[in-house]
Amino acid sequence: MVDFDSVDYFTDPSLVPDPHPYFDHMRAKCPVSQESHHGVYAVTGYEEAAEVFKDPDLFSSVISVGGPFPPLPFEIEGDDIGALIEQHRAGMPMSEHMVTMDPPEHTYARSLLNRLLTPARLKENEDFMWRLADRQLDEFVSNGSCEFLTEYSKPFALLVVADVLGVPEEDHQQFRVVLGAERPGTRVGSLDDDIVVGNPLEWLDEKFSAYISDRRENPRDDVLTQLAQAKYPDGSTPEVIDVVRSATFLFGAGQETTAKMLGSALRILGERPDIQDALRADRSRIPVFIEESLRMDAPVKSGFRLAKRATTVGGVELPVGSKVMVCPGAANRDPRRFENPHEFRLDRKNFREHMAFGRGNHTCPGSPLARAEGRISLERILDRMLDIRIDAEHHGPEGDRHFDYEPTYILRGLSNLHINFTPNP
Ligand code: HEM
Repeated sequence: MVDFDSVDYFTDPSLVPDPHPYFDHMRAKCPVSQESHHGVYAVTGYEEAAEVFKDPDLFSSVISVGGPFPPLPFEIEGDDIGALIEQHRAGMPMSEHMVTMDPPEHTYARSLLNRLLTPARLKENEDFMWRLADRQLDEFVSNGSCEFLTEYSKPFALLVVADVLGVPEEDHQQFRVVLGAERPGTRVGSLDDDIVVGNPLEWLDEKFSAYISDRRENPRDDVLTQLAQAKYPDGSTPEVIDVVRSATFLFGAGQETTAKMLGSALRILGERPDIQDALRADRSRIPVFIEESLRMDAPVKSGFRLAKRATTVGGVELPVGSKVMVCPGAANRDPRRFENPHEFRLDRKNFREHMAFGRGNHTCPGSPLARAEGRISLERILDRMLDIRIDAEHHGPEGDRHFDYEPTYILRGLSNLHINFTPNP
């Protein structure tokens, strides 16, 4: 029996393969309870998590990514630290990205994105996804086996973001190499020599600054031009760098998360022939399957907020300056919301209520994309890969499987997934 009160959620590798017993333990103590190592309040209950997410006036997103690390660059003083946060915001991790912003700056940053992710753009992007799914599958399907993350989900998720932003297709391979979504052994020599990059994010910033500056000077009939010409709601034109940040952040936010969603969906298909058969027999069940995969294994298992003032959540008093860890992974398995929460059910009635995409003003703007990526990938995978099985050589025999998960306290996803299948080319 593990003593979860002595386990440090942020550093203990034993929680990585399965954080749910820890989340259950915290929730059973209280859906809002303080962990002992860093003094962080863990919100593991569904209603309580929604309450925090939906109150940006009380809960700042300034620590949304780092949580308790690094420590705050100021001392908590007074009843309201709103002004202190603003004074120190620029020195805090990822302050240039919308996920750490609060209104009104957040509202501005988000408005640029909303101009990009229009229904028309998403429709064009879906057309690209169908082509891309087949192109990815063409690379390995005849082998009858693959490491699904490297060979499918990572490059697929990356190139979908590249396409939605209007990156020309002739540049896609370059993005794949720089952003690490290239299959080992398939790199193109001259391309690699061209782009030996120290920091892929800086490379992205430079690449997009060049695209946006070019489109401002030489408008074309393309998505990058729409992005370059987007205005704030008050009619003013954003700085190039602000447009660039809205665009490049999508790679960070949209690639790993979606790749993890696809990985966990494929693991379920490989483990559960009954579910695989049900989907093959009735493709209209795919969207529910995707939602239930997201509920069971929320790719973002935790996110953070800083209490600007003293308050109470779920009857628990939180002092001013409390660091709050909202856990979508735990909220999604709250038994007060989801019956038999640890069971994967294709017939779950309230499958749409999961919190994998968050809630409130920071709710994931990429959720329609992620859902389409799941649906289209599953359609093409079921068409072209028959009898999908977990590769026992890598993960052990049925009943004694072993899977490696990424060792992070924020994301939840497989490091690799080896599967076998019968090709249906
Ligand atoms: C299954 C895949 C995905 C999951 C589980 C996911 C999850 C989330 C969550 C939980 C948040 C809220 C963070 C917070 O409240 O602090 C978020 C924000 C965000 N996501 Fe996603 N996401 C996914 C895919 C995507 C995709 C495909 C894109 C875009 C291409 C994207 C772009 C963003 C952006 C830009 C934000 C920040 C929004 C803001 O701060 O207002 N995400 N995502």
